[in-house]
Amino acid sequence: MLEIAIINGPNLNLLGKREPDVYGHASFEEFLVQLKKDFPSVNFTYFQSNIEGEIVQAIQSHGFNKAGIILNPAAYTHTSVAIGDAVAAIKTPVIEVHISNVHAREDFRKISHVSAKSVGSIVGLGLKGYALATEWFIANS
Ligand code: DQA
Repeated sequence: MLEIAIINGPNLNLLGKREPDVYGHASFEEFLVQLKKDFPSVNFTYFQSNIEGEIVQAIQSHGFNKAGIILNPAAYTHTSVAIGDAVAAIKTPVIEVHISNVHAREDFRKISHVSAKSVGSIVGLGLKGYALATEWFIANS
């Protein structure tokens, strides 16, 4: 089985309830059930935290033993040197995903501390971005 870790940052535990016009009506847990059905050859590990250091820990702990990490650091994308450094420090390739099109929103969302250290970024395609990232890891494993 291909091992993929999904790591979500702050406020993504509120998906479905949070600004549904921006982030949609599905909770991540509901989406994950479908993602697992769509990719039966993948073993997904899912971790969400609202705490920066816990995200750094998760990146480190998955960063040497998974085929890929799908990372949505949410607001920490734009502020966290520590999360950017963690992505640079590990061996596992990371795909950065954002549900919304961060480039079409406020200027502060155009800065990412993880983009340059990731194999690629998928933004603005909704939750489908996580499925597309999974497809890339399958194709490149
Ligand atoms: C987000 C975009 C971020 O700017 C924002 O702070 C989030 C979610 C996204 O998935 O679109 O919390 O990462």
